Amino acid sequence: MNEFKCTLWPTGEVISLNDEETLLNQLKKAGKKIKSSCGGCATCSDCMIVVKSGEMNLTGQTFEELRLLGNVFHITKERLSCQTKVTGDVTLDISAHEKDSTSAKKKPFKASSGPKSTTTILKKKEEVEKAVRENEEKSQEKPSENWYRHWESAEAEDPSKPKRLGGNKKPKAFNFNNNDSEDKD
Ligand code: FES
Repeated sequence: MNEFKCTLWPTGEVISLNDEETLLNQLKKAGKKIKSSCGGCATCSDCMIVVKSGEMNLTGQTFEELRLLGNVFHITKERLSCQTKVTGDVTLDISAHEKDSTSAKKKPFKASSGPKSTTTILKKKEEVEKAVRENEEKSQEKPSENWYRHWESAEAEDPSKPKRLGGNKKPKAFNFNNNDSEDKD
């Protein structure tokens, strides 16, 4: 097992890293906060670190790392610490992990409250109560007795009237020739 020097940017703190364990494990052992949600399976990209110098002293990107980050290391200088081991001295920037943990603490939960929203809720409640009251009143009303089978009662009143079986009109013959003059006749 070989030991190498790792300088943390921007503090300048120096820790020693070996070439057998991943950066994620070793930085955690050194007491550094590195986020990792997937437990080192290269699926969350939370453990990303920035390489300031010595990129040639890191192991090559694995298939899983390339799948997650793409082939843009030469632009971003970002690596997954859970997939990377050292083979020489490096300078790494892990300040993003510390920043995130402190900023999350600084943001307290703020419940949205205010006179405007409260008024709206009260108004809605009143409307609901009013609607419920109206429905209850309606349900208590008795329906008129004439509504049920009203057509039968009308026939019973005047049996001399013939039953109306709809329309009382002769249907028009269909015009196959589309000739308007036949219609007029
Ligand atoms: S810990 Fe999730 S990608 Fe490295």
